[in-house]
Amino acid sequence: MPPFSRYFLGSAPSVTEARRFVTTLLLGSPLAKTAELIVSELATNAIHHTASGRFGGRFVVTVQAQPKRVWLAVVDEGSPSTPKCFRPYPEGEGGRGLLLVSELSADWGIWGDENGRTVWASLIAGQETSWT
Ligand SMILES: Nc1ncnc2c1ncn2[C@@H]1O[C@H](COP(=O)(O)OP(=O)(O)OP(=O)(O)O)[C@@H](O)[C@H]1O
Ligand SMILES: [Mg+2]
Repeated sequence: MPPFSRYFLGSAPSVTEARRFVTTLLLGSPLAKTAELIVSELATNAIHHTASGRFGGRFVVTVQAQPKRVWLAVVDEGSPSTPKCFRPYPEGEGGRGLLLVSELSADWGIWGDENGRTVWASLIAGQETSWT
């Protein structure tokens, strides 16, 4: 399948829309549920931590699927802060999203700078962590 991309408004309802975009594209894929969870974390981060969450902001989701592999990315509008993959705080406050992405994906990464970043993850069927 060629890559598919879609713009979303940088507001909370778009997280659900981004999840539906991914699950619709990946209908029948063993990676659909994992991809849905990852896009949910990355879209939420784009809204909460970058200029995509400002009035008129947007983010882009790109999905490229093969029978046993999925590559997905969320492109945001940037922020002075850099994404950091924290260990969960003992008191249970935030900071789990990227840790989850790193554990559920075969590989993941960040590209870009304060003007816009791409956070991507690749998934391989059979290597996904069982979380359902
Ligand atoms: N796209 C991004 N651009 C810039 N900084 C980011 C981005 N995504 C995450 N960050 C930074 O990395 C930190 C860790 O992100 P992570 O998703 O792990 O935790 P969180 O969003 O703070 O909390 P949680 O996801 O558990 O609700 C964030 O607090 C934020 O400072
Ligand atoms: Mg997060």
